[in-house]
Amino acid sequence: MKHLIEPTDLTKEEIEEIVDLGLDIIANREKYSEACKGKKLATLFYEPSTRTRLSFTSAMMELGGNVLGFSDAQNSSVSKGETCADTTKVINCFADIIAMRHFEEGAALVSALNSRIPVINAGDGSHAHPTQTLTDLLTIKREIGRFDNITIGFCGDLKFGRTVHSLIKALSRYSGVKIVLIAPDQLRLPDYMKKEVCDLTGMEYKEVSTLEEVMPELDVLYMTRVQKERFFDEDEFDRVKDCFILDSEKLKTAKPEMRILHPLPRVNEITVDVDADPRAAYFRQVENGKFVRMALILKLLEWAKDNEKTNTLIPANTVRNKYRCRNPRCISNMEVNVDTLFRPAADHPEEMRCVYCESKPVKC
Ligand code: NCD
Repeated sequence: MKHLIEPTDLTKEEIEEIVDLGLDIIANREKYSEACKGKKLATLFYEPSTRTRLSFTSAMMELGGNVLGFSDAQNSSVSKGETCADTTKVINCFADIIAMRHFEEGAALVSALNSRIPVINAGDGSHAHPTQTLTDLLTIKREIGRFDNITIGFCGDLKFGRTVHSLIKALSRYSGVKIVLIAPDQLRLPDYMKKEVCDLTGMEYKEVSTLEEVMPELDVLYMTRVQKERFFDEDEFDRVKDCFILDSEKLKTAKPEMRILHPLPRVNEITVDVDADPRAAYFRQVENGKFVRMALILKLLEWAKDNEKTNTLIPANTVRNKYRCRNPRCISNMEVNVDTLFRPAADHPEEMRCVYCESKPVKC
């Protein structure tokens, strides 16, 4: 059985299998209309969502399956203090597959560790969002035609934007990918991403301070919203919220074949006049999200019966209950009965990283 907690839980080949299946679903919708007959998807959403939850629901419905779950954890036993692990064990009695979104980093991993059915991470805090990555990859495939040899600009909140972290991890496995990081100082890509992902895989990256200086070289511009809900200090949010705004004027120097992606929701970072530009692919991207989630559900249900298909949720060199995570939003600091798990950092084996959220331990 396979879970999808991080994009790297899937091999490059498995990702391409899912993207190709997504393309086949687009071309032959009827063929798949009963593919999940009798199967149930549980959508456990502890955090607001429009696209992700409804695209999962719509995906399962188009596959002929059923959906149960909650979109507001306050209406579930979570409000009585039930842990993520216990909720997962309960849902295992009712469903065949789980899609979970949670504000705690590492929640989907805890769920997977307590599950006999596949768990899909539909977003855990600011950590990861692998199904948005599959959506982004299918969109890049359809709009640009390749994953290799592309220059992609990430603009906005690169610190808290989980979609950015997951897409960079997935792209780091392709050759000739260059990333350009466009963010205010306060919202730069976390260090662990630069060191453990970019440096280690040799993915070329540069940090710049304006959109204008890089626009002509981009094949893809990935815009993001400043993640208001992840700030501890509202004044800090106010200082950065209007930092980067894409409008038609700024697009004048972009390549005609460049594509603008955005995981959505948009606040003010892309003005509405851009929507009519053929390079604006973000609403097409939303629909791709449904097709790729159909493909993912099909593949994970198929692999659930395959003993050869497994993923290592906890690395072999993990140290249990010795360190404490310094990230206050890590599930190991937010819920009871969660073991702390630390593994050596990929770039500095003498330093430890939290298995749930990749943060460093509290200094002793
Ligand atoms: C993103 C998310 O939830 O991380 N939205 C989505 O799933 N499409 C991006 C965001 O909320 O800004």
